Amino acid sequence: MIHAAPGLDSRYRSYLRLLNADERDARYICELRSEETLNRYLNPSNNTVADQVHWLNAYKEREAEGKEYYFAIVSDGADQGVVRLYDFREVDGKRSFQWGSFIMPAPRIKGLVTYTAILMYELGFDILGFEQSHFEARAANATILAFHEREGARIVGRTEQDVFYRFYPEDYRRFREASAGQIAAHRVKASAATATR
Ligand SMILES: CC(C)(COP(=O)(O)OP(=O)(O)OC[C@H]1O[C@@H](n2cnc3c(N)ncnc32)[C@H](O)[C@@H]1OP(=O)(O)O)[C@@H](O)C(=O)NCCC(=O)NCCS
Repeated sequence: MIHAAPGLDSRYRSYLRLLNADERDARYICELRSEETLNRYLNPSNNTVADQVHWLNAYKEREAEGKEYYFAIVSDGADQGVVRLYDFREVDGKRSFQWGSFIMPAPRIKGLVTYTAILMYELGFDILGFEQSHFEARAANATILAFHEREGARIVGRTEQDVFYRFYPEDYRRFREASAGQIAAHRVKASAATATR
């Protein structure tokens, strides 16, 4: 059950909050996706708040069916970006999930980009029981390509526009071990985090 996952537990310094189909979250997504420094490698999306509310309403039906999860990333008491788990299906004969729509505006809290990626794999592998992750990134998005390379994602194809990846449970285990510092900094009770910073 995704709602009981530790990654969604709001007592921690950093956690994921399921987005609502309301004006506040619609406006937040519109703001992020219309920011030119952030949207260069994103698919164009609805840029009016009303259109975004409409999109979120349809998303909420997919969420209720367990087909997709769209989150605000919350840390230090504020929304710090968004990220999405979606496209649950069989790929290469394995139950597979995709994650993406990842936007975190600068200045970024230390460790939070890595911790967010860990949460995506924790939800996909540990909580939802998928056997694999498949995802893609724009070939020109050098930052995210380098990030996926550092986390150990495997390139399985590329076109002029996109690079295609697979990520397996053993890749997640290695990435999780290498990210112990980020996990320790973010999976800490909020009051303790305030006291130690
Ligand atoms: C995607 C996005 C959230 C990534 O954030 P970013 O800060 O640009 O990513 P970086 O790879 O530079 O940094 C992420 C982490 O890698 C680390 N890192 C960066 N370069 C590194 C290097 N050469 N060696 C080791 N670590 C490195 C950073 O310190 C950071 O660590 P932390 O998580 O512990 O704080 C952000 O660029 C964004 O919102 N982009 C716009 C939207 C977008 O294009 N999304 C991707 C499509 S899904």
